[in-house]
Amino acid sequence: MTPFSIVVAMDQNRGIGREGKLPWRLKRDLQYFKEITTRTRDKSKRNAVIMGRKTWDSLPAQFCPLPNRVNVVVTRNKDLELPQGVLRAESLDQALELLTKGALSNTVEDVYVIGGAQIFQQAIVRQECRKIYLTQILHSFDCDTFFPPFTDHFQHEASSPRYVENGISCLFAEYSRKTAV
Ligand SMILES: NC(=O)c1ccc[n+]([C@@H]2O[C@H](COP(=O)([O-])OP(=O)(O)OC[C@H]3O[C@@H](n4cnc5c(N)ncnc54)[C@H](OP(=O)(O)O)[C@@H]3O)[C@@H](O)[C@H]2O)c1
Repeated sequence: MTPFSIVVAMDQNRGIGREGKLPWRLKRDLQYFKEITTRTRDKSKRNAVIMGRKTWDSLPAQFCPLPNRVNVVVTRNKDLELPQGVLRAESLDQALELLTKGALSNTVEDVYVIGGAQIFQQAIVRQECRKIYLTQILHSFDCDTFFPPFTDHFQHEASSPRYVENGISCLFAEYSRKTAV
């Protein structure tokens, strides 16, 4: 079992995307995403980010791959060409396995699942999914892609104060998996 966390930004309706892109442009959230997924306690290690192929396709060229992190792309396409160093996995299971077995197991610190909806759906039901780093965008956007309901199985741990960017209120929240009683 490889424990991992989810990092997601969602609006008031759990919307996360539209037409293959993020529906908003919020710099502070991108900075938060970078910090969470990049920082390590052991400076000799890197974190890993696991994403679906559509999220991979949506990354802007300068962040493709996401720097200073092991990038893993989940796809059923065996012929998908990826830049050197970017790993391809045929399932979420295989992605998690790649990171804990073999050469990478000693060099990867934490694992983050970063979307999109298809991959979140498969990740959130797994017991190894321990934590959700959520950017709550307190606004409704026109979305076509949604994060699954999660509060039955995850409890609120902490929230930052609200802040406003581009006239939109946001906050950073952390949720952890409820333990069975
Ligand atoms: N707000 C946020 O925090 C956030 C984060 C990430 C993404 N997004 C948004 O979410 C949207 C993309 O999400 P999405 O759900 O459409 O796509 P996605 O989850 O990023 O990628 C879906 C693709 O992943 C592969 N895949 C999924 N399940 C698989 C499995 N079990 N085994 C093997 N491959 C599998 C398939 O790739 P192939 O088709 O290549 O086989 C599938 O087409 C975009 O709008 C993006 O901007 C938002």
